[in-house]
Amino acid sequence: MARWKKFLLGVSGIFVLALLIAWLGWVVLPLRALEATHPPVPHNLVIAHRGASYWAPEETQPAYELARELGTDYLEMDIQRTKDFALVAIHDDTLERTTNVAELFPGREKQTISEFTLAELKQLDAGYWFNRKHPGLARSSYSGQRILTLGEILDIAGAKGRKCPVYIETKSADHYPGIERDLVALLREKGWLEPGDGGLPPVIFQSFYSDSLMKLKELAPNIPRIYLVESQVLKKEGGWAPMLDRAAQIGAGIGPMGTLCWPWNVGSAHRHGLTVHAFTLDEPWQFRLMAWFGVDGLFTNRCDALLDYYGRPSAKSARSLLDELGY
Ligand code: G3P
Ligand code: CA
Repeated sequence: MARWKKFLLGVSGIFVLALLIAWLGWVVLPLRALEATHPPVPHNLVIAHRGASYWAPEETQPAYELARELGTDYLEMDIQRTKDFALVAIHDDTLERTTNVAELFPGREKQTISEFTLAELKQLDAGYWFNRKHPGLARSSYSGQRILTLGEILDIAGAKGRKCPVYIETKSADHYPGIERDLVALLREKGWLEPGDGGLPPVIFQSFYSDSLMKLKELAPNIPRIYLVESQVLKKEGGWAPMLDRAAQIGAGIGPMGTLCWPWNVGSAHRHGLTVHAFTLDEPWQFRLMAWFGVDGLFTNRCDALLDYYGRPSAKSARSLLDELGY
């Protein structure tokens, strides 16, 4: 063999060996360390981001019913509070993107959720926009879907005689003083704070606001809490390492943007005893990369695809389940 070929072969071998050692050090060993600490949330979680929101309008009844029927581990939702103190699921601060607020309440498009009563929100169409945006996935029954209260989502989650676990975000928590108390009171009233059957925790809390999570820790210490992390949070905390210290006080994990989930970041979270759920990823190549980097679970709009990837495919397709559900 020519000398230059031998040289290339040697360099490639060293490169592959270095990669293997890095993977063992950053991913495998910290993961084993995390498992040894018995984290409260198991591995390979499928978290249906705003329900099965690839297939149906986000945070509406069809999105949550479909995710439940597909067999997702968790139904994810963003909880905010109306003027008359009802807890409702909606992602944005305003109603512009996902409802016909401009048509029903002209001039109030820029108002926040907290400036509307529940009765007003319930008049809005929270589904028609999906049909316009995704004509290939449109269904006429999506038009006229309503914004849901947290109580209504819990009823959907518990409709089949077993509770499909819920993953609840206190969205814009600084805008809603006392929302943690209201949230815990409703969960308690509806029987969702009782310990589960030994499987998945029935409820997980999540927030970009560490203060909100600390309040939840005080009010319901047994419910796991996930500190959501994006660039603003990292800036506020002063970097990855101090953010992990804060997250460790909060317990039980972090929810970083996928782009932050480098193996050395995931590994250091595991060494802190923190589980890692990345948001929001929908493509099989992303699932593969995140698994390789040691991430413990994913927020996804495609819970059907992630269930496939984790080897737990749904027996029926999303389209046939939507038909069966009457959509
Ligand atoms: O809750 C995890 C993820 O949903 C955070 O992003 O903006 O979709 O709520 P967002
Ligand atoms: Ca969310």
